Amino acid sequence: MGIALSIKPKLEELQSRGIPGTLGAPKIVIAGSGIMGASMGQIFSRWGYLVTLYDIAQEGLDKGRELIAINQRALVTQGALSEDLSREVLSRISYTTGTDTFKEADFVIEAIVENLDVKLDFWKKVSRLAPDGAVLTTNTSGLSITEISTAVHLPERFCGMHWVNPPHIVPLVEVIQGKNTAEETVKVVREVALSVHRHPVTVRGDPRGFLLNRLQFAVLREALHIVENNYASVKDVDDVMKYGLGMRYACIGPFETVDLGGLDTFYRVGSYLFADLSDVKDVPEPLAALYRKGAFGTKTGKGFYDYGNGGAERAIEKRDRDFLKLAKCLYEDL
Ligand SMILES: NC(=O)c1ccc[n+]([C@@H]2O[C@H](COP(=O)([O-])OP(=O)(O)OC[C@H]3O[C@@H](n4cnc5c(N)ncnc54)[C@H](O)[C@@H]3O)[C@@H](O)[C@H]2O)c1
Repeated sequence: MGIALSIKPKLEELQSRGIPGTLGAPKIVIAGSGIMGASMGQIFSRWGYLVTLYDIAQEGLDKGRELIAINQRALVTQGALSEDLSREVLSRISYTTGTDTFKEADFVIEAIVENLDVKLDFWKKVSRLAPDGAVLTTNTSGLSITEISTAVHLPERFCGMHWVNPPHIVPLVEVIQGKNTAEETVKVVREVALSVHRHPVTVRGDPRGFLLNRLQFAVLREALHIVENNYASVKDVDDVMKYGLGMRYACIGPFETVDLGGLDTFYRVGSYLFADLSDVKDVPEPLAALYRKGAFGTKTGKGFYDYGNGGAERAIEKRDRDFLKLAKCLYEDL
């Protein structure tokens, strides 16, 4: 590809020397110090990177700093991180609204607002500020990587790097190759994910929604169809996932499930069931009706459930506590 990616020798150095130490450590700039950026920053710092959180607004940085303090306290309280290590994590993260920071970057993750025009504008400027050898990635939830790459200077070093909320606990990272992304870039981004003890998967062909959201929305469409037809309540559908499918899928995927259950049986069930499943193309009414009312879930205090009287905080805390318990059981070295 003709580009010497500056992170490659630093990654080798990081792997051979381990952490801590800052001399020669890879420099990552995360743009957007919101829910995702703040969480990712902690993971990179945890595994030895020098992290800068960049945001267009000082309030964004303040929010990021606050989220990081909450997450770190929870990790320490639950025994996932020692107090010393947590202090070190905080010491390797800096915050800025100045774009000069991109001039020093080995690796950039853009986690700003999910709006194509804003992202195009961001990359037009930042890809020219960053050194030619920097790897550039976007955490878009599903916008076309190829389309975003049209704004990027030297787009062969640009690809999708899609994390799952909350990224400091959930290990999956989708590495998405756009039409202009070099194979070498995909390889290096996978190595970067591995260097921070995440689990990368590669997505080719730049499909809308990548893998996780395609699967997630296929399940959501059927869940909404079930509720709309009064086959079950919202809570019972959630319980089917929590006590049945979700437990299974934390350990084995859909293809492993078929192999273990018997392909012949899945074939026979599929021959009558696929035709009966929802294939609607519009957002189903149970979701659309709540959206129209401004019931956006924990962020507004009401969604499919009620989150008044501190319910939102309790729901978020419980989710993080349960995810962490599960992660500790299933994955080493988070
Ligand atoms: N929240 C999720 O569950 C989730 C999961 C995966 C991917 N994503 C994606 O990650 C990205 C960020 O999502 P989030 O939930 O962290 O959003 P957020 O609203 O919590 O944070 C976004 C931050 O970006 C800042 N920002 C906006 N425009 C900017 C610009 N031009 N330059 C610099 N900073 C700017 C804002 O001030 C804000 O602090 C989006 O693309 C989103 O689709 C989100």
